[in-house]
Amino acid sequence: MSLFKDYILERTEKQVLETDTGFAVYSYPDETTVYIEDIYIDKTHRQSHYASQLANNIIELAKLRGCTKMIGTVVPSAKNSTISLKVLLGYGMELKSAGPDLIVMGKDI
Ligand SMILES: CC(C)(COP(=O)(O)OP(=O)(O)OC[C@H]1O[C@@H](n2cnc3c(N)ncnc32)[C@H](O)[C@@H]1OP(=O)(O)O)[C@@H](O)C(=O)NCCC(=O)NCCS
Repeated sequence: MSLFKDYILERTEKQVLETDTGFAVYSYPDETTVYIEDIYIDKTHRQSHYASQLANNIIELAKLRGCTKMIGTVVPSAKNSTISLKVLLGYGMELKSAGPDLIVMGKDI
């Protein structure tokens, strides 16, 4: 377990899933929803579906808790936000809502 994961678990209600190629931080905003808040894949391993695999693993964990929806967000002002949007669309998410600097995407799981 990394110090980053230690920190997140000690300081927040969020969960962390780590692999050799990346990590994801996720949470359960309500009883039926899992929210991938952050996801990161090492630069040398991108576009090989590692992020999709991480998300699939989180879906399996979320289903065990009875979740039926996954959401993800894009902050338009963040660096590379257009790529983030493409990744969420590529992963099958649809637009759910949008605010001044927050796009919420989601899909049934
Ligand atoms: C965003 C990130 C996690 C994607 O990881 P990845 O392992 O390369 O993503 P995947 O290979 O699983 O790709 C998922 C889908 O998004 C698409 N995609 C991934 N990177 C893309 C890019 N740079 N441009 C366009 N589409 C992209 C893929 O084509 C794939 O769709 P497909 O199944 O139709 O091929 C990675 O680029 C990263 O760590 N970036 C920095 C952190 C970040 O921006 N995180 C927020 C992401 S919402």
